[in-house]
Amino acid sequence: MTATKKAVQFSRTGNPADVVEYIDMETAPVGDDDALIDVEAAAINPSHLLTLSGSYGVQPELPAVPGAEGIGIIGEVGKNVTNVKVGDRVMIPPYSGTWRQQVVVKASDIAVMFPEEGDPVQMAMIMANPPTAWLLLKSVVDLEPGDWVIQNAGNSAVGQYVMQLAGIYGLKTVNVVRREGLEDFVTAAGGDVCAVDGPDLGERVKAATGGAPIKLAIDAVAGEATQHLADCLADGGTIANYGLLSKQPCQVWPDDIIFREITLTGVWLTLWLRKYSTPEERHAVYSELAGYIAEGRMHAAVEATYPLSQIKEAVTHAARGERNGKVILLPNSEG
Ligand SMILES: NC(=O)c1ccc[n+]([C@@H]2O[C@H](COP(=O)([O-])OP(=O)(O)OC[C@H]3O[C@@H](n4cnc5c(N)ncnc54)[C@H](OP(=O)(O)O)[C@@H]3O)[C@@H](O)[C@H]2O)c1
Repeated sequence: MTATKKAVQFSRTGNPADVVEYIDMETAPVGDDDALIDVEAAAINPSHLLTLSGSYGVQPELPAVPGAEGIGIIGEVGKNVTNVKVGDRVMIPPYSGTWRQQVVVKASDIAVMFPEEGDPVQMAMIMANPPTAWLLLKSVVDLEPGDWVIQNAGNSAVGQYVMQLAGIYGLKTVNVVRREGLEDFVTAAGGDVCAVDGPDLGERVKAATGGAPIKLAIDAVAGEATQHLADCLADGGTIANYGLLSKQPCQVWPDDIIFREITLTGVWLTLWLRKYSTPEERHAVYSELAGYIAEGRMHAAVEATYPLSQIKEAVTHAARGERNGKVILLPNSEG
């Protein structure tokens, strides 16, 4: 049985608020191996804004429904489906186009289940940022309990998950932000040190950590900020760049690369999902993270929720700097 539901679509790329359309969309038929999901909540991430503006690493064929992640309740299953049932709460498979009320997916792509109780808004953010934090801490360099890690954009959602996961793994974090007044925010998220970015970051971090050697720097900003992180690293340390927030090239002095053996590398969750992980590895990582989220040990601040009908206001809000948390869509919060 098909129904006409509300959805967001974009048919061209450009300024996000200009290209998103709020439309009626017929839900796809549910095949024998499919599951229909009623979307409870879906995040608006920087990568979604890059996709809408045409500058992300993978672009969908247009027209497309934006939204790479979300959570929902199974509303119907095909006759061959055994891994989920009507009423189950599940992570919507990556890149399904979640900014809509209903989505039909291959049931075998559903890998993560959540309990009925708990905050769907927190669960909706599991697909992208928590495993990115996990990859950054687990796949770049070997870290031991007690080791220090430094990151910038420390108050971002990824930044908060890095602090919380680091705490779970016994690591200590220096959290660099670009504005004053975020010390309490960083402490509440489990961070050890908060520092405002700047050319003298290396000296200030050395004072704050007692000169502890730092093997890993996590860079979401690029530009000059990359050099500021390099200044904080021990010789032989690694910078893992995973974001392009400054829209500038990563800058590191050759002296650091040559004489101090500083390495600059990149981390992209999409490559891990599509190329570098097995279904078993993905299942293990998402199950671990789902447990932490369900227990409240991993969470990200949320500044606002919007119904789909206010999609232009929602993407404009998400693109604004100096937010106090994520902007989340609640697609079924209105008719
Ligand atoms: N490589 C991957 O696989 C991967 C996966 C997930 C996310 N990411 C990237 O991770 C980054 C964080 O994502 P998120 O969803 O956690 O972000 P978010 O919660 O939406 O927060 C955005 C953060 O970016 C900061 N920011 C914005 N513009 C900036 C600039 N020009 N210079 C320095 N900081 C700036 C903000 O600081 P203020 O609060 O001061 O405005 C805030 O800390 C993004 O770049 C995203 O694309 C990468």
